[in-house]
Amino acid sequence: MAAMRGPRAIRGPLFFVLLPVLLLTTQQLAGGSPPPDPVSCARGTSDCTVTNTYGSFPDRTICRAANATFPSTEQELVAAVAAAAAARRKVKVATSHSHSFPKLACPGASDGTIISTERLNRTVAVDRARRLLTVESGMLLRDLVKVAADAGLALPHSPYWYGLTVGGMLATGAHGSSLWGKGSAVHEYVVGIRIVTPAPASQGFAVVRELGASDPDLDAVKVSLGVLGVISQVTLELQPQFKRSVTFVTRDDKDMAATLPAWGSLHEFGDVAWLPRQGKAIYREDNRVDVSTPGNGLNNYLGFRAQPTLGLLTARAAEERLEENGTDIARCLAARLPAAAFELQAYGFTNDGVFFTGYPVVGFQHRIQASGTCIDGRDDALLSACTWDSRIRGPFFYQAGFSVAMAKVPAFVADMQRLRDLNPRAFCGLDAKLGVLMRYVKASSAYLGKAEDSLDFDVTYYRSYADGAPRAHADVYDELEQMALLKYGAMPHWGKNRNFAFDGAIAKYPKAAEFLKVRDRYDPSGIFSSEWSDQVLGIKGSPNVVGAGCAIEGLCVCSDDSHCAPEQGYFCRPGKVYTEARVCMFEQRDTTRLVDQL
Ligand SMILES: Cc1cc2nc3c(=O)[nH]c(=O)nc-3n(C[C@H](O)[C@H](O)[C@H](O)COP(=O)(O)OP(=O)(O)OC[C@H]3O[C@@H](n4cnc5c(N)ncnc54)[C@H](O)[C@@H]3O)c2cc1C
Ligand SMILES: *[C@@H]1O[C@H](CO)[C@@H](O)[C@H](O)[C@H]1NC(C)=O
Ligand SMILES: *[C@@H]1O[C@H](CO)[C@@H](O)[C@H](O)[C@H]1NC(C)=O
Ligand SMILES: *[C@@H]1O[C@H](CO)[C@@H](O)[C@H](O)[C@H]1NC(C)=O
Repeated sequence: MAAMRGPRAIRGPLFFVLLPVLLLTTQQLAGGSPPPDPVSCARGTSDCTVTNTYGSFPDRTICRAANATFPSTEQELVAAVAAAAAARRKVKVATSHSHSFPKLACPGASDGTIISTERLNRTVAVDRARRLLTVESGMLLRDLVKVAADAGLALPHSPYWYGLTVGGMLATGAHGSSLWGKGSAVHEYVVGIRIVTPAPASQGFAVVRELGASDPDLDAVKVSLGVLGVISQVTLELQPQFKRSVTFVTRDDKDMAATLPAWGSLHEFGDVAWLPRQGKAIYREDNRVDVSTPGNGLNNYLGFRAQPTLGLLTARAAEERLEENGTDIARCLAARLPAAAFELQAYGFTNDGVFFTGYPVVGFQHRIQASGTCIDGRDDALLSACTWDSRIRGPFFYQAGFSVAMAKVPAFVADMQRLRDLNPRAFCGLDAKLGVLMRYVKASSAYLGKAEDSLDFDVTYYRSYADGAPRAHADVYDELEQMALLKYGAMPHWGKNRNFAFDGAIAKYPKAAEFLKVRDRYDPSGIFSSEWSDQVLGIKGSPNVVGAGCAIEGLCVCSDDSHCAPEQGYFCRPGKVYTEARVCMFEQRDTTRLVDQL
């Protein structure tokens, strides 16, 4: 009888979780309904709101703007900036999908103007001989990569998701993974920019500034959070087309702290995904090979494919049930499935675009570097969509992203593993999201780029649709983030994270003052600055929103029990490994029993 108990006990949760996982990974949809426009206006182009692709900023507020414009030429762009500058109205760029988690796309005040770059997506010039490509700033990475390949050229490094725009990638310092050459951030390959900034009335209220490779202002404009003006065109220095050879190797995580610094030197495109509960690390061995190497591999990452809406709804319902009413054992059992399913299907890599026959997968850079077929489909009335489509009550998550200077990585990872070892099951929520992705980013001359060679950590975890609802084991995730940001001085990714991560972040940028000088020159009245950008740049106010339950929502670090959810048993307590951390911890109190007895 005892032998029967195990399997029978797990049948319930397994059923709920296996079903959506199977739905999620076995579908071969070419693409689902494209994501909604983040800009939505009640009357024509006025009375608008802007949001991100998840449909919710970290503070869950709605961002309003008086009107929106959709310029399709630089001339129209100049006119839009001039109109805002003449009226001293706040203005901000939104892109076709707006993928940044924080409130970057929100113009200041509530009567500002949104300038969308969705119609600025053309190729301006291709210079094959000098390997230069000039594009408009609203072009998607998907299209950029293709235009380059058609000219026999390659952008050597980029984010892994191709739905991002050139302007958005630059503004937030977006990157792939590399310590080689100029490194993995897209802005390192920029050699020219045309940016439209406000100007005095004598100059018509807006001017186009053209910056060449040696212009010192380029170090401000490369990573700008969008506060310097609207980037109109970008010139990138590309490389001759090349191929890559990719192999994923799963090992145990015992020597990970020591291995990580070396891995980035060994493999040009190497990265590592850590599954904390399972104690595994998935090493990506990814190197440049000659174009003559046989192979026409394709990266069509499973996580970026369209998913049937029904599967997304079911997956979310199962996740909520586990989160709210599941045991650690049930949650951890469920958490093993996604990583296993992805490994089985080679993460969506194929050797020829159709079948996976084994590693290494060799293919052209433009077929390997990024993917995202869920944005490529025709409207199917929302029968399928990207996993995070905000019109579907599907998966909803937070993503922390922070970079730790390479010299501190072994100590940070050792601390992280110490925290894991105290209660491995608390980390199942990270395994469930395919682990902590670790990628290499090089030191940059950009004022708001990385100050040192670093390892970037992406930590994705469950978010509740309900404001203020505590999450299971949120204390360990919060301790992890505070440890990285405070003890190890990590820099938060400008396009990810919850509010508290940006508190004091600007002090980590040695060249921040240089950046602000350029801002004062380009936009002296700050029409491109918002409450949010002022808070993160240390100009005015704090990104924290302190109040009841703020630490539960990641809007503050708790300093009082009321910042947690004391009525639900969550109290503000020190961290377990990093004792300076302050996190909301669940404590079973006798009070509930007392109340029950009354
Ligand atoms: C599925 C997914 C995968 C991701 N993968 C990666 C990854 O691999 N690596 C990585 O580093 N990041 C990644 N990110 C995060 C992403 O890089 C950032 O959020 C990115 O900045 C978003 O680009 P966007 O085009 O959507 O810009 P938005 O989020 O719309 O805009 C970001 C900021 O840039 C400003 N801006 C945009 N265009 C212009 C312009 N032309 N001129 C001036 N300002 C402008 C906006 O006003 C805003 O302030 C990922 C995000 C998602 C959703
Ligand atoms: C936006 O609204 C303001 C105020 O109503 C107006 O002055 C401005 O011209 C409008 N801009 C556009 C592009 O519609
Ligand atoms: C520009 O965007 C439009 C609308 O989304 C699209 O139809 C077109 O193919 C894009 N052009 C390029 C060059 O990517
Ligand atoms: C959790 O259990 C409670 C009490 O049975 C129930 O009301 C709630 O709906 C459950 N939550 C989920 C997501 O299933």
